[in-house]
Amino acid sequence: MKVSSRIAAAVALASSFAYADYVTNCLTDNVCISIGVPEVTASSGSGNLYFQMTAPTSYSWFGIGTGSRMAGSSMFIIYTDGSGNVTVSPRAGTGHSQPSHDSSLSVEVLAGSGVDGDTMTANFVVSNLDTDVASTSTWIGAYKSGSSLDDSSPEASISEHGSETSWGFDLSQATITDDSNPYVDANGDTTTDTGSGSNDSSGGSDSSSGNTGVVDSGGSTNSKTIMYIHALVASVAFVILMPFASVLMPLLGKWYIHAGLQLLSFVLMWIGFGLGVKVANDTGIIFKQTHTILGTVVICAMIFQPVFGWLHHLHYVKHQGRGAISYVHIWYGRVLMALGVINGGLGLKLANAGSGYKIAYAAVAGIMFVVYAIGKIAANMRKSRSYKKAEMHEEPSQRSRRPYNNSDEAEWRRYESGQGAPQPYEGHRYEGARYDSNRYA
Ligand SMILES: *[C@@H]1O[C@H](CO)[C@@H](O)[C@H](O)[C@H]1NC(C)=O
Ligand SMILES: *[C@@H]1O[C@H](CO)[C@@H](O)[C@H](O)[C@H]1NC(C)=O
Repeated sequence: MKVSSRIAAAVALASSFAYADYVTNCLTDNVCISIGVPEVTASSGSGNLYFQMTAPTSYSWFGIGTGSRMAGSSMFIIYTDGSGNVTVSPRAGTGHSQPSHDSSLSVEVLAGSGVDGDTMTANFVVSNLDTDVASTSTWIGAYKSGSSLDDSSPEASISEHGSETSWGFDLSQATITDDSNPYVDANGDTTTDTGSGSNDSSGGSDSSSGNTGVVDSGGSTNSKTIMYIHALVASVAFVILMPFASVLMPLLGKWYIHAGLQLLSFVLMWIGFGLGVKVANDTGIIFKQTHTILGTVVICAMIFQPVFGWLHHLHYVKHQGRGAISYVHIWYGRVLMALGVINGGLGLKLANAGSGYKIAYAAVAGIMFVVYAIGKIAANMRKSRSYKKAEMHEEPSQRSRRPYNNSDEAEWRRYESGQGAPQPYEGHRYEGARYDSNRYA
């Protein structure tokens, strides 16, 4: 009797451990996803899968999906239903920003679901999800902070998310004994904190994460690092280096400094683009978001800018002044630069960057805009001052006799006073005078 009750207790204990042996992964604090695979599903390879998703109610929605990218993913999105419970919406990821409702996925919301304080919890079972329960599979997750959706329709429109996270679940380690809701006990009380698959790591063999059955796929960490480098490199190129090198031109009047720095920004821009393509490709958003499309357009359009710059330079050397090509070079560059800066902002939005990043980006962009504007105004004022000075020393009759509109006033004054002939086609001989900042840019 005594022995048998001990055995019964041991069995109960063992089965309670096994019972809760689902896997859990928390994407951030309180944004967690658990999956339990009943033995019967594990042995047959298909059948019911028990999910639990929790998120703070300060998020509009929280979604997870199979696979490593949205395109082709079977997704489950939870949001509040407006009457104290949650809506679980199965969706088919198309790679477009909003996955559409997928009624072919059979989902049933279970006990223990609801809104408790500032946490929403969805316990649900899916009977026909095509996923690998015998080894590690990749999953994606995303969430959006914002006001509660309060929508009981599984077709509610959700706003675009920021970043996606991906990880691996080894569902062979997520086996639960019974084919029933593992997230509540017999009394219907929530059992979430007994899950041995969660971060308490009891019996966990995967000590690196302390989280049995969760495989932090190298890909996602990698993608994140690449994304940071992409953002940094592209921002330095568009927000700092390009306007800086641009404003240096009229201030210093040294074309090779301008060209050298812009070449550097050009190279950085392409490195940033390459990294961006890698991230977009990994997350399946390539050419599907304004950021990736606009970025590609700007980068490709930028190919012509060094060509325009070189043509402008040749024109300047020949005619000692700006021509139509100069204005093409200047305005083409300004428009692309502005689009690049805007696109950086879109990128931060897409990546769901923290407000610190956004403020820093806007501040640096604002400062560079002011530096650029002041630099250009200073250069213009200097230019008009030197024109005035030159014109005050000149009779109108002399000006009208000038054969070259763009020739240098000082040179012509020397010519008129018999000190030498103008040589307007040999600009390189006049580095000091001709490439002076007042005239070149
Ligand atoms: C939410 O809905 C499920 C399924 O109908 C139910 O079992 C659960 O008790 C509900 N939760 C609340 C808080 O009403
Ligand atoms: C598991 O994670 C939760 C939330 O981060 C935390 O509150 C809890 O203390 C953790 N448990 C253990 C055993 O580390």
